[in-house]
Amino acid sequence: MITESAMPKARSYASSFLLVILLATSNYISLYRGMRLSSDCRRSSTINSNTLSANDTLTTNFISNNSNNDATTAQIIIDSNEESLATNLRRPQQQLHLQHDTQSQLSSSSSSSSWSNIPILPPNNNLKVVLVTGGAGFIGSHVATALLQRGDIVIIIDNMNDYYNVSIKESNLEWVKEAAAAERKRKTMDSSIAADNNDEDENNNPNLSIYYGDINNSTLLSAIFDQQDQHNAPITHICHLAARAGVRPSIRNPHIYIRANIMGTLNILDFARRYNVTNVVMASSSSVYGEVINNGSNEGSSFSEEMHIADTPLSPYAQTKRSVELLSYTYHNLYQLNITNLRFFTVYGPRGRPDMAPHVFISNIFRGESIEQYGDGKSSRDYTYIDDVVNGVVRSLDRSYPYQIINVGGGSEGTTLSNFIGLVEQHVGTKAKIVQRPNQMGDVSHTRANITKAKMLLGYVPSVSMEEGVRRTVQWYKETHG
Ligand SMILES: NC(=O)c1ccc[n+]([C@@H]2O[C@H](COP(=O)([O-])OP(=O)(O)OC[C@H]3O[C@@H](n4cnc5c(N)ncnc54)[C@H](O)[C@@H]3O)[C@@H](O)[C@H]2O)c1
Repeated sequence: MITESAMPKARSYASSFLLVILLATSNYISLYRGMRLSSDCRRSSTINSNTLSANDTLTTNFISNNSNNDATTAQIIIDSNEESLATNLRRPQQQLHLQHDTQSQLSSSSSSSSWSNIPILPPNNNLKVVLVTGGAGFIGSHVATALLQRGDIVIIIDNMNDYYNVSIKESNLEWVKEAAAAERKRKTMDSSIAADNNDEDENNNPNLSIYYGDINNSTLLSAIFDQQDQHNAPITHICHLAARAGVRPSIRNPHIYIRANIMGTLNILDFARRYNVTNVVMASSSSVYGEVINNGSNEGSSFSEEMHIADTPLSPYAQTKRSVELLSYTYHNLYQLNITNLRFFTVYGPRGRPDMAPHVFISNIFRGESIEQYGDGKSSRDYTYIDDVVNGVVRSLDRSYPYQIINVGGGSEGTTLSNFIGLVEQHVGTKAKIVQRPNQMGDVSHTRANITKAKMLLGYVPSVSMEEGVRRTVQWYKETHG
């Protein structure tokens, strides 16, 4: 059993002192009580250094998390068994990939079967320290929770922008913190952590750090990476989900999208390179596919990764997503970074994005308000339930492919808008009041993922049917808004 002792305390104070000195040298970082990350974080972030007793799996672990939505507290955890975690977290040397590997993956852009020769990687189940960008968002908060629940260390950065109601993002973070606390409690009960730590609150968790800030803020990112390094918990993986999402708003204001999605991703890739991150998983989108025309109709066609229509994106949003796929190839090629771009297909589920049709339809039908249906209802989407997407993301984080683009879809034939509305009506128990509108500029008519590659390379198999997914989402909506 590891208890707090004079030695770890002394080491903790020494570590804290070093950290203070380091931060104080930055023009952008000022001291406040313990330590304060200020800079241009949208909200003030306070870091306090304390000593805790440690669990069996952690050695020197920097923690910060959001204690009251206005502050970020940090603590140093010291474990007597430093070697075990240091070994676990040490980044593997970057593999230098033979040119022909790269060639074979690139040629997957032109040949439907070329990727089938790629050696399938088994999962690496080591403990991971994962920077989740956009972790307060819909997908990010679910991914962060799943990682915490299996024992990984999660660091979230999110600028909490007001693309949709910020209180939803705040409540997403509360949900993540609860999951971290539950996991912490489980570990505490399983291990020999001193009993007096059992009532640690959810804001004081060693496995979760939350930063309010922009991915374009290099000063903040440097501080995060450096602190993780100094405390022997270097960031090993990046799950890059932060982006301005949404097709239609990107037509109105493309500049925001270029800055957040392209400039922001460039910054993240730079940090991945500088800090020798093992694996980067990035969110791309089915939007990159644009339209497939088959004999005048694209119904029934499925999108596979090698299709060239991805090079004719129909909206600024789609263009940013395709651009970062290409940018990440360049970074992979120049710096041997392992990067996988996951093309998500219309993700829905509990705590779904309030601007997206599934959420809007459920919410409006539930409240007896009318819904706007764009087009004749025959457009279709390969809706993907959030748990399946999380599964795809986690599988991808566990497999460091040198460079890949992989569809993560629902694997169905696609569901028409009319059928989707019908399912919602059935589960809500109310008839929808539909106002029909013309098709929207930038929207594609049909999306349908070919997920053969995801099955082969990631072992990804979606498990939640449309029926079941809508049932669960409506149930969640009733429980939280009813
Ligand atoms: N939801 C879907 O159906 C879907 C489909 C395809 C692709 N995607 C992609 O998946 C990712 C996650 O999507 P989501 O639905 O969870 O969206 P979301 O808007 O709920 O989450 C994105 C998060 O990123 C944060 N963010 C945005 N710009 C930032 C910046 N510059 N710095 C720091 N944080 C920033 C936002 O505050 C938000 O919390 C996005 O990259 C999106 O483009 C989503």
